[in-house]
Amino acid sequence: MGPILSEDFSVNFLKAHNARHVWHPMGDPKISESDPPLIVARGEGVYVYDADGKRYLDCVAGLWNVNVGHGRPEIKQAIVAQLDRIAYYSTFQGTTNPPSIMLSHLLTEMMKPEAMTKVFFSSGGSDANETAFKIARQYWKLEGKADRTKIISLKYGYHGVHFGGMSATGTPPHRLAYEPLVPGFLHIDSPYLYRNPWTGDASELGRICAAELERTIQFQGPDTVAAFIAEPVQGAGGVIVPPDNYWPLVRQVCDRYGVLLIADEVVTGFGRTGHLFGSRGWDVKPDIMCLAKGINSGYVPLGATAVNERVESAWKRDHPLAAIMHGYTYSGHPLACAAALACQKIVLDEDLPGNAARTGAYFRKRLDDLATRHELIGDVRGKGLMLGLEIVKNRKTKEAFAPNDPIGKRITQAALEAGGIIRWAAGKIILSPPLVFTPAHVDEAFEILDQALQSARRT
Ligand SMILES: Cc1ncc(COP(=O)(O)O)c(C=O)c1O
Repeated sequence: MGPILSEDFSVNFLKAHNARHVWHPMGDPKISESDPPLIVARGEGVYVYDADGKRYLDCVAGLWNVNVGHGRPEIKQAIVAQLDRIAYYSTFQGTTNPPSIMLSHLLTEMMKPEAMTKVFFSSGGSDANETAFKIARQYWKLEGKADRTKIISLKYGYHGVHFGGMSATGTPPHRLAYEPLVPGFLHIDSPYLYRNPWTGDASELGRICAAELERTIQFQGPDTVAAFIAEPVQGAGGVIVPPDNYWPLVRQVCDRYGVLLIADEVVTGFGRTGHLFGSRGWDVKPDIMCLAKGINSGYVPLGATAVNERVESAWKRDHPLAAIMHGYTYSGHPLACAAALACQKIVLDEDLPGNAARTGAYFRKRLDDLATRHELIGDVRGKGLMLGLEIVKNRKTKEAFAPNDPIGKRITQAALEAGGIIRWAAGKIILSPPLVFTPAHVDEAFEILDQALQSARRT
């Protein structure tokens, strides 16, 4: 297909006006103006096309979310069919709409092993986490323990951009410009095997980090701690896969002190790690699960927060604070929920978690091959189709590049030239392709990465 042209907007117009009137998320506006972003105009399966018609392998699934691939007719049809009925109706108390009811049923069925009983809809991952924090604090008030308000989270964690989520986030660049943050949010060390001051042994690290959670709860006073939140696999912080014993130990610690366990499954939910939900990878049952992204593969914005019977039960009693005074105009948006119903049918019918496990294992192997060819790669890690390469100046010393070093830009730019979209985040290459990736797509991604790393080294 050639350039995208319409009566009003030529490709040249788009290029000239790009970033002139938009402030892009997660970037310095000056850079968006001087170094304009790629204008992605069309998508099909695992490929997207820019405004000039050039094709790219989408190695990041948009933003870890287009799990079923671009342009799925089943989802389009579901959205259009819902549009023919009604585009929007509110789910605030007193009214609702069929797709949100059907989706709440489907999600609780899908999360039966985790014993989730209720779902609260929102518009994305930040909303889902904000909802979780408010539910956790309200839960303890309804339980008669109003002092249990603190939220513990991990360094390198990413929990979105609202004030609660940002306060829980453990990556300083997302926080510093917006301080002061919400009081009562505390951070502990992440089980980051490649960089930690203690050990190279995974099990030992799992024990050390779970013990830190326990000591922090004890130090703060268990009766002041509401919840612990973490991503099953830390994503934006650099695809940090915890040791196998970490999550089970965390669940035990939370149980010992009654602390609610919140799994931020915004990236890991719906198959990405090779399991339908990330926490299922370690057979751990959280109390609250935050979902977005893969819930409908990004076709319409949607988030959801699920709670188990323990959490739900607090709302069964009469209490002056029992009303959930939280919600979004677009909570349970019919188009988003209709898209999610169609999306999850694909996830289940095509066994995308299984494909993520198989194709992810192959991708991991190819990345290990890549590391033998490029000294820049300090570490290869991942679970399912959530993979990361830590890029270092010196493999022996693990010396990282300075945050303002152009290496990341050089690698991502060279990848674009080679026909692939990859993501750079704080010294790591992040790979999170659609879960419909095949081994042939992995081989194509390997060639793109090989070329990108070669040319980044040369320049
Ligand atoms: C783990 C995690 N939680 C929350 C969010 C925030 O989601 P959203 O950007 O949809 O608000 C993200 C976004 O990348 C995420 O990776």
